[in-house]
Amino acid sequence: MQKKLFIKTYGCQMNVYDSHRMSDVLAPLGYMPWPSSQDADMVILNTCHIREKAAEKVFSELGRLKAQKELRARQGGRMIIAVAGCVAQAEGAEVLRRAPQVDMVFGPQTYHRLPELVARSLRGSGGVLDTDFPLESKFDHLPEESHRQGPTAFLSVQEGCDKFCTFCVVPYTRGSEYSRPVADVVAEAERLVAGGALELTLLGQNVNAYHGAGADGKVWGLGRLLRRICEIDGLRRLRYTTSHPRDVDDELIAAHAVESKLMPYLHLPVQSGSDRILEAMNRGHSAEDYRRIVERLRNAAPDLALSSDFIVGFPGESAADFAATLRLVTDIGYAQAYSFKYSPRPGTPASLAETQVSEADKSERLASLQMLLGEQQIAFNRASEGREMMVLFDAPGRKPGQIVGRSPHMQSVHVTVPVPAVPRLRGALLPVHIETGHPNSLAGRLELCDAGAILSDNRCPQTLGVPA
Ligand code: SAH
Ligand code: SF4
Ligand code: F3S
Repeated sequence: MQKKLFIKTYGCQMNVYDSHRMSDVLAPLGYMPWPSSQDADMVILNTCHIREKAAEKVFSELGRLKAQKELRARQGGRMIIAVAGCVAQAEGAEVLRRAPQVDMVFGPQTYHRLPELVARSLRGSGGVLDTDFPLESKFDHLPEESHRQGPTAFLSVQEGCDKFCTFCVVPYTRGSEYSRPVADVVAEAERLVAGGALELTLLGQNVNAYHGAGADGKVWGLGRLLRRICEIDGLRRLRYTTSHPRDVDDELIAAHAVESKLMPYLHLPVQSGSDRILEAMNRGHSAEDYRRIVERLRNAAPDLALSSDFIVGFPGESAADFAATLRLVTDIGYAQAYSFKYSPRPGTPASLAETQVSEADKSERLASLQMLLGEQQIAFNRASEGREMMVLFDAPGRKPGQIVGRSPHMQSVHVTVPVPAVPRLRGALLPVHIETGHPNSLAGRLELCDAGAILSDNRCPQTLGVPA
């Protein structure tokens, strides 16, 4: 009998990937994807613990689900509520205590055990908790991914973190660093490409710390892995995220110089421009080290667009420390970036520091940093005006006739075509003439094919990749 499964995903791209894999594990049990919690037989919240706000969202969602579960019970049905991901790992017992409507809580390393957990939950009455870090790797026990991800697909190659930045929960929620063997990664990449992916994004909490076992008995770094994956016929674009400055090595830089499939965009979080704060964060590099790494990357790939993460108001951050962050941003010049107020997380060393920065200072610093980053982003987008770039279209836009894709630099690009052409363009990689650079996106027109050619069966050569 078919059952309805709704997975709601919070947090990073690793969680997006994991949600696909959970749905693969549950498919043999009869669970089919369902678009909302309404009428669902099972709801999984795949959660994020990175900042307090992220974690609190889960509890408010659980409140809403409680009412739906009760309604379903009154109608004679049953809704299983599960909490997965990093909140489950960090606060599993607390989740069951605060939200007794929850049937199952399980951490990111246990997804291969889901069938057993479901069986236990259906048998028993209380909540089932599994937050082990099992000896076996889930990757060896998960079924092959059946979930078609479409033209752009994620592939986890590395998980966990041994760096222990003093603000961060990830080493506790995801466990220690693990790299999948090269052969597994390549086989999965080939399957994804055969299934229609033109672009792959390799994922890892520290993706460039990748050190997977190669078939040649040697340990491969990320640079070598990227070059191997670039050899896959039919793959057009390759990306990876998230990288740590400490793990940018010569091989990775060289890959950017020579591999045309490797997109000229790199998310390289720096967090702060102050050496004092970087040290207190345990980042393991100075602001000057970061500048040098970026310079080497840009020498290898002059077109490289950079992105970063920043934390403002880390304990002990002075006005002068924050000014150093603004200076670093000015020097580097980012295409886009994410910035956050420091959020004290339970169990992390920085949360115990007595030098917490006031909320008012955090807000003020975040506003000025975001202003600067916003200006840089607009400047970067404006500089795209008049250029022609390849865009991989993967989703319909908000307005009728709009289709949205990504530039090589990860900018979101929208073009308007006759409405019936929109579905045909999904998965097409086409040259677009950029007309306007907006703050968060680019507007362009399809360069070499007029809309008429796309609409008719008489497609021009540039649309040959378009699935009918
Ligand atoms: N592995 C990546 C980042 C993973 S977490 C790296 O090392 O850079 C994603 C981002 O969330 C971090 O880069 C950081 O900017 C932010 N973040 C993590 N913990 C935080 C905290 N306690 N408060 C505010 N932001 C945080
Ligand atoms: Fe967190 Fe630091 Fe590890 Fe990134 S490197 S996941 S910020 S501990
Ligand atoms: Fe959040 Fe866990 Fe990812 S804390 S950012 S979901 S690794």
